Amino acid sequence: MATATAPAGLTTTKAPFIEQAQAKGELYITQPYELYNEDNHEAWRRLYDRMVPRWEKYANPHFLKGLENLSLDATKVPRLADVNKFMAPLTGFRAKAVSGYVPAYLFFDCLRNREFPTTITIRDRATLDYLPEPDIFHDIAGHVPMHTDKAFAEALVRFGECARTAAELVTGIQDDKERVRRLISIQKALARFFWFTIEFGLMRGPGGKGIKAYGSGLLSSFGEIEHCIESPLVQRYPVQLEWVVNQYFEIDHYQPLLFIVDSFDHLFHLVGELEQWMKEGKLDNVSPGEPEMSETDVQSFLEAGVKGA
Ligand SMILES: [Fe+2]
Repeated sequence: MATATAPAGLTTTKAPFIEQAQAKGELYITQPYELYNEDNHEAWRRLYDRMVPRWEKYANPHFLKGLENLSLDATKVPRLADVNKFMAPLTGFRAKAVSGYVPAYLFFDCLRNREFPTTITIRDRATLDYLPEPDIFHDIAGHVPMHTDKAFAEALVRFGECARTAAELVTGIQDDKERVRRLISIQKALARFFWFTIEFGLMRGPGGKGIKAYGSGLLSSFGEIEHCIESPLVQRYPVQLEWVVNQYFEIDHYQPLLFIVDSFDHLFHLVGELEQWMKEGKLDNVSPGEPEMSETDVQSFLEAGVKGA
């Protein structure tokens, strides 16, 4: 029986609190902070400690500034309320606790509203290195420091607007089959863009010298943050929209191909271009392959379009 001194914990895939929320269909939840057990805090501590020297070496300066702005505690799992206290005055962004996967449209729409769906569980301390699911370390230590940067935050909001444009655009297509076909192609393009920028993006270093990581998948991975910059096995190219939207990716190994932006203003500009391409039909036939769109993701866009019509 769980007691007050030995809470069940909020360990990824092993948290009764999360299972109950999912069973009740609750996606947006509160962070039950008292449920974190000592193992959870220990996992956070170890993850954070070992990243610090790698962040200093490989992370872009906006991220380092973000860490400072958030005053994240290295010794225990952060409270979302504390994170928001520091972040909201800077860019309006807030971390919003969720019980699990957020269907694509809802996720992007949260960004449009300056909310960031945030996983509250933390990986098991026995398996710090690889985790297919996001956890609070990925979301808070990997994503959120970037959200304190004004230019980056604007690019994220712009991306959310882009997703709304997609939903509205396909609503106007009469033929059911064609609507879904085009939507899947556009969604693939959006997912690829998000992957190669927000999740795994590289950026030129200060003064155009060197390369730094700004993608959260890199910033939250002890092994990959070094690999992405140092390894001769990684191909790094200046970002090209026509390439990114047609490039498949796989999530279960280090990324062999990454794209470099010049700045977050550059990124913001690219999101605008992405939207323009969408309106011109240039995302209607992107190359097939990963990522596959789930029924839930497709449905989330169709429903949004209907509501907005
Ligand atoms: Fe992520």
